[in-house]
Amino acid sequence: MDQPRLTRRGLLAGGAATAAGALAACASAQTGAKAAYAGPPASGGSAPPTGWAAEPFHGPHQAGIATTPQSHAVFVGLDLLPDADRDAVVRLMQLLTDDARRLTEGRAALADTEPELATLPARLTVTFGFGPDLFRAAEVADRCPKSVAPLPRFGIDRLDKRWTGTDLLLQICADDAVTLAHALRMLVKDARSFARVRWIQRGFRRGPQTQAPGTTQRNLMGQLDGTVNPRPGTPDFDRAVWVDDGPKWLRGGTTLVLRRIRMDLETWDAADRTAKEFSVGRRLDTGAPLTGRNERDAPDFGMVTAAGFPVIAEQAHIRRAHVADPGMRIFRRVYNYDEGVTYEGRPDTGLLFASYQADIARQFLPVQRRLAEADLLNEWTTPIGSAVYAVPPGCGPDGWIGETLLS
Ligand code: HEM
Repeated sequence: MDQPRLTRRGLLAGGAATAAGALAACASAQTGAKAAYAGPPASGGSAPPTGWAAEPFHGPHQAGIATTPQSHAVFVGLDLLPDADRDAVVRLMQLLTDDARRLTEGRAALADTEPELATLPARLTVTFGFGPDLFRAAEVADRCPKSVAPLPRFGIDRLDKRWTGTDLLLQICADDAVTLAHALRMLVKDARSFARVRWIQRGFRRGPQTQAPGTTQRNLMGQLDGTVNPRPGTPDFDRAVWVDDGPKWLRGGTTLVLRRIRMDLETWDAADRTAKEFSVGRRLDTGAPLTGRNERDAPDFGMVTAAGFPVIAEQAHIRRAHVADPGMRIFRRVYNYDEGVTYEGRPDTGLLFASYQADIARQFLPVQRRLAEADLLNEWTTPIGSAVYAVPPGCGPDGWIGETLLS
């Protein structure tokens, strides 16, 4: 493990320039260390490949978006302290970037009191999002994209103030729950001098160690969820997700809409299979559209029954949500949540619906409006949380997340 010359106190107390210089020193120290984390250290140690696997932190885009979804996620919503100004936001982002860089490479964060917990990165990623009020605190309100604002109120919404937008978001994902817990603790600890945690939303899904790569995961209603979604690495994905014609500082970045959607599994359990499949327009077993045989068959929205009714109902979820141009779709990177049972003994279960898109107004809002107007699935699902963020581009070994906006 390298011996960092950068101290946590230096970052907390020092000015932005000091911190940036120290970070540069730290970054060059880390370049040589990187290869060591592609596998077990020379000193030995044993773990299956999942534990050693590391996702690259540096690049034009932040990790955790195009990254094959890990099995565990935690979304952390933070509000800046009332006296936080632009310098404070800069220092916070430099500090958290340094933590994220180290932890995702399997190295301890600065002043890590349990460095042993950092050794297995398990494909850890940390993705940062900026809420509208962060722009105000950092005195760059004019650089906040217009559609990064609270969404209009939809008739289906039953929003709980507990789950609404915050100044800063950390999306932390990993294939191992211990790695994730450690990263969460380190990041929150280091953010404490600048910001307060308002909420934490934990999610899970079947990850690559459980099912073959490319297999669509199932949500807690039992549906295959993620079939029609832009595929990372394709031009359609790049067009749908990365900003290339918006504000200059956001090029290579994206936007995130995070909706907490409760599922009423008790009444869903009471529905028969035909009703369940009819509401979505796909089969539960194979995920095939009701007009096809296989999951990847294109739905035939024009097909009618002998009696002349559409096979895929007018109000079926996939008809209402469908967008013909693949480059204009939203990218759904969803996680299940299950917090046990409510006070009344009902399942506290649902979906952390994370949607990435280049432009919220152009891509997300039209779909959400159509679904709010009419979608058979609304019978069993209720949005109870909603937050939006601008997600800055990635950074290089000497950089930090947010530098294109704040430096
Ligand atoms: C708990 C809430 C939700 C559940 C259980 C759910 C479930 C599903 C399922 C099973 C599919 C079909 C398989 C697939 O292509 O992934 C689907 C498709 C889709 N959903 Fe949802 N969904 C939910 C909420 C939403 C929301 C809030 C939006 C957007 C605002 C959305 C947008 C889409 C889109 C764009 C598709 C693909 C449609 C197409 O075939 O072109 N969904 N969803």
